[in-house]
Amino acid sequence: MPDRRREWLARAAADAAVMVRAPGRVNLIGDHTDYQDGLCLPVAIDRDVLVAAAPRGDATIRAVSDAIDGEAAVDIADPPRASGASWSIGIAGVVGALHELGIAMTGARLALASSVPVGSGLSSSAACNVAVSMALSCLAGTDLHGDELARCAQRAEHLVGVPCGIMDQMASVHGRRGHALRIDCRSLQVEPIPLPTDLAIVVVHSGLPRALATSEYAARRAACEAAAARIGVPTLRDADLDSVRDDPIARHVVSENHRVEQLVGALRANDHAVIGAVLDTSHASLADDFRVSTPELDQLCAQLRAAGAIGARLTGAGFGGCVVALAPAAGAEEIARVAARRYRAATALRPTAFVANSADGAEVMGPRGSPAGG
Ligand code: GLA
Repeated sequence: MPDRRREWLARAAADAAVMVRAPGRVNLIGDHTDYQDGLCLPVAIDRDVLVAAAPRGDATIRAVSDAIDGEAAVDIADPPRASGASWSIGIAGVVGALHELGIAMTGARLALASSVPVGSGLSSSAACNVAVSMALSCLAGTDLHGDELARCAQRAEHLVGVPCGIMDQMASVHGRRGHALRIDCRSLQVEPIPLPTDLAIVVVHSGLPRALATSEYAARRAACEAAAARIGVPTLRDADLDSVRDDPIARHVVSENHRVEQLVGALRANDHAVIGAVLDTSHASLADDFRVSTPELDQLCAQLRAAGAIGARLTGAGFGGCVVALAPAAGAEEIARVAARRYRAATALRPTAFVANSADGAEVMGPRGSPAGG
């Protein structure tokens, strides 16, 4: 953790009783599949949210953040009452989800420090909800972990009107260093897939805010549900390619599930040609069939390929935010720099690029930031 965050947290929460960490994620493939019971392949990354928590003597949660202005305040009523800064509503979502699990909370002071860029498609919100759920349940003396923790953090989003799937929360909870996670979003089975050590994960933020992300996301989700109903299956996980050939929205979801399996096989074989082709085909499907790309994201992926990445695609919901590429580890920093420079020259946008390292999932740490019990 950079010293700046550590110092800020130490000042903001000198009397913390517990500290937790939850990572953001980048999705290698399998986008817009999770809410149709499908497959995805995210990697938890070394950008995370830390939450230091201390009990308060009343029934109010007060939270400050190093990334967002103002103090959030939530009364632990059922339903919870949010006041204070606008981000109080997100904390209220977590409190509501914990209520539903029957967890008896006490008042708390929370300090959040995040290195996950907000609103970029790297799951800053899921990491935040996982960390706050963990911190508040710890203070309540309850060990909330695994799939139940992921579901609680997802429910918190639903309670505030964000109809997300379960991928981001599962990635944040189950992340494993050195691995991507093949997640079956129907059974919630998680299979860690070793990442080839000669490849690096390049993430570039397009500099384009994720305009329309919430409304368009909900519209795509509804279109998938309508397609499944038309075909006569519970979700598109149950549809085959033949039945969706004439429906681009459904065709993306069904073919993307196949691509997740293809990429898992190609990563195991470390076959760079297939890895690159599958990533590129996924981007084309998201752009042409599912229509969640933008000309800028298309251009950024093209620049990454031209600079030497073996494949590139948008990651997450789309409509702006980040793209992900796999690149030879030895040249990855340079590939990211060159692609970002050319993209900036072509678009006048300000991209930010970095090589992401895989990371372990959410954990409770000691109050001073060392692993609990370690
Ligand atoms: C967002 C949602 C996820 C998932 C992706 C698209 O990140 O939170 O549940 O649907 O979009 O794959």
